[in-house]
Amino acid sequence: MDKIIIRGGRKLRGSVAISGSKNAALPIMAASLLGDTPAYITNVPCVTDIRTMADILAALGAKVDFPSPHEVVIDPSGLCNPTAPYELVRKMRASICVLGPLLGAIGRARISLPGGCAIGARPIDLHIKGMKQLGAATRLSHGFVVADGTGMRGAEVFLGGRFGSSVLATANVLMAAVKARGVTRIEGAACEPEIVDLTHFLCAMGARIDGIGSHTLRVEGVRKLRGARHKLIPDRIEAGTYMIAAAITKSELLLKGARADHLRAVIEKIEEAGVGIFESSGAIRVNGKGKRRVVDVTTHPYPGFPTDLQAQMIALMTISPGISVITEKVFAERFMHVPELNRMAASIFLEGSSAIIRGVKSLSGAPVMASDLRASAALILAGLVARGETVVDRVYHIDRGYENIEEKLRGLGAEIERVR
Ligand code: EPZ
Repeated sequence: MDKIIIRGGRKLRGSVAISGSKNAALPIMAASLLGDTPAYITNVPCVTDIRTMADILAALGAKVDFPSPHEVVIDPSGLCNPTAPYELVRKMRASICVLGPLLGAIGRARISLPGGCAIGARPIDLHIKGMKQLGAATRLSHGFVVADGTGMRGAEVFLGGRFGSSVLATANVLMAAVKARGVTRIEGAACEPEIVDLTHFLCAMGARIDGIGSHTLRVEGVRKLRGARHKLIPDRIEAGTYMIAAAITKSELLLKGARADHLRAVIEKIEEAGVGIFESSGAIRVNGKGKRRVVDVTTHPYPGFPTDLQAQMIALMTISPGISVITEKVFAERFMHVPELNRMAASIFLEGSSAIIRGVKSLSGAPVMASDLRASAALILAGLVARGETVVDRVYHIDRGYENIEEKLRGLGAEIERVR
């Protein structure tokens, strides 16, 4: 099992290229099943979740090729098998987003239930409710959700859940609706940039969707869709992670390819923390050299502060002078990184779905354990400024969503290496 070793205390400088968005790539790869001809997707991040999705699509009968590490061609013409196997689904909760395309493409699906993970239970009740409202028959059987979509018609679908909108439930209902006869209105839809990118891809395939970027989507079913060419948006969570890397090390960095319009809530909070953020064409310049200030953050669905940057923000606050409160409103148990940061001499305590952080003068490098994708990133950020050596174990978590993180950070001047 690989480990990443960081020796803290180095300033960073230079520019880093932001990769394509993993969370846009996954539903867009699944949506390729809806076309009659191959789809060609570029700016694909070289991360393991992309390969897992490729394996799932291949298991369903599609032909998936990577002409280069950052391009994927998906030919759906061989699609025949409705079953997404447990051994692949258990590796990646997002596998559930083949449910909608399978129903839209071949009218049936049998998907292993995703189960829970380090950031909490990952229910799919909204996904099921949406499919039922479109007229699909669904049942749970032996750990699988089994759906028959032959009777699907356009319908009114409401997707607001206990925690607000759901990104992948919106993606699933959208992908099931684009070929359902009639008009579908989705109320309470997620409006994350990744959903907007998915709707752009579906429209390029010939789908008819209005209300793009809003919480209400209107879909007019069409009979046929064709494969399309599509360049993925940049990964806003990777960009936010490097923004915080500049802040925590008090460095100045240029994030090439980052889109500030996808990061308004994050930029506002990081500027409040004393960091200078300057937008230039196709990049964001971050100047973290000023004095740090504590900020309070509450995570929300987009356009609120993203839950996927909550752990990284806590890492920044551990060495900011004062008390800060960071509240998690999307995945209430998403605090596995807190005990690990406390092992690095941070002073954080949890009160319900809030972390109360008392800034300390410095962190102390230690062996720590990654638990989920974004918690791993937070531990690496902490390692950049901790005194001495930090060893992050189980870095397969980080490889799921960050392309070459140790090479990118080493290129910026960090003392970081991967040991196999
Ligand atoms: C997507 O997951 C992202 N994954 C997550 O990123 C991200 O944290 C999450 O959206 C929130 O932004 C991908 O896009 C592949 P949700 P998703 O459905 O769609 C509850 C990462 O690090 N809920 O928007 O699965 C759910 O429990 C990953 O890249 C239901 O109650 O998340 C949560 O509390 C981690 N019932 C809230 O809604 C449902 O049927 C939001 O979850 C579905 C969700």
